[in-house]
Amino acid sequence: MTIIFAHRGYSVKYPENTMLAFQEAAKEGADGIELDVQLSKDGEVVVIHDEKVNRTTNGKGYVKDLTLEELRKLDAGHLMKSITKKQPIPSLREVLEWMTTNEIICNIELKNNVLPYEGMEEKVIQMVREYHLSKRIIISSFNHYSIVKSYRIAPEIEIAPLLGNAVYMPWVYAQSIRAKGIHPKYTAYRSDILQSTLENGIEVRPYTVNKEKDMEKLFEKGSSAIITDDPVLALKVKHKSSLGK
Ligand code: G3P
Ligand code: CA
Repeated sequence: MTIIFAHRGYSVKYPENTMLAFQEAAKEGADGIELDVQLSKDGEVVVIHDEKVNRTTNGKGYVKDLTLEELRKLDAGHLMKSITKKQPIPSLREVLEWMTTNEIICNIELKNNVLPYEGMEEKVIQMVREYHLSKRIIISSFNHYSIVKSYRIAPEIEIAPLLGNAVYMPWVYAQSIRAKGIHPKYTAYRSDILQSTLENGIEVRPYTVNKEKDMEKLFEKGSSAIITDDPVLALKVKHKSSLGK
């Protein structure tokens, strides 16, 4: 069965990477959420996609130059006019705390492929263990050295490489780094390669799948998951395709 991850939360409707977007995704019935983490000036793990706060908040500057307190003052919801209440940048701790109240799965993407963020893996793992959430977390990154490091520290937590380009025989690569799954960019992979990956026992969770036609195809092919900005549309398509079988 294909499960549905809400990319940056229910981000087609709510401000990306905010508690509101995660909570609404869970409310609508998504199986999982995907989120991005960076490190603040005072070493806190915070949930935001870019290295800078400029695009998604009303602030300016690098996340690494702002303390958690300073980051919390910003509004990550200001671009969505329909959202009138201030939406703070969540800390990873806040998300994990919330996860103890539900069953949601969480794909934590370590955004350490631009800035190195010394010690990020240890901080994330320590927190995941503290909340006993190892079985409901998948750590992914474009920085594959970082996910291998994560696996070495915490083999109980699943890792998955983000693959932006078509790697040759991705299942062989995944096995070589002890990843049980891959997160391929959907448009970069031919469907027969994704099929062979599944047949070789490696889970496939393509991103970012927002078109109905693409969703349909992936549900039909038995993709392990899809990562989408629109979990509500995905649920509708999934329901329809299961009715059709
Ligand atoms: O997890 C897949 C996807 O989130 C990777 O790209 O830029 O949306 O973080 P991006
Ligand atoms: Ca991401």
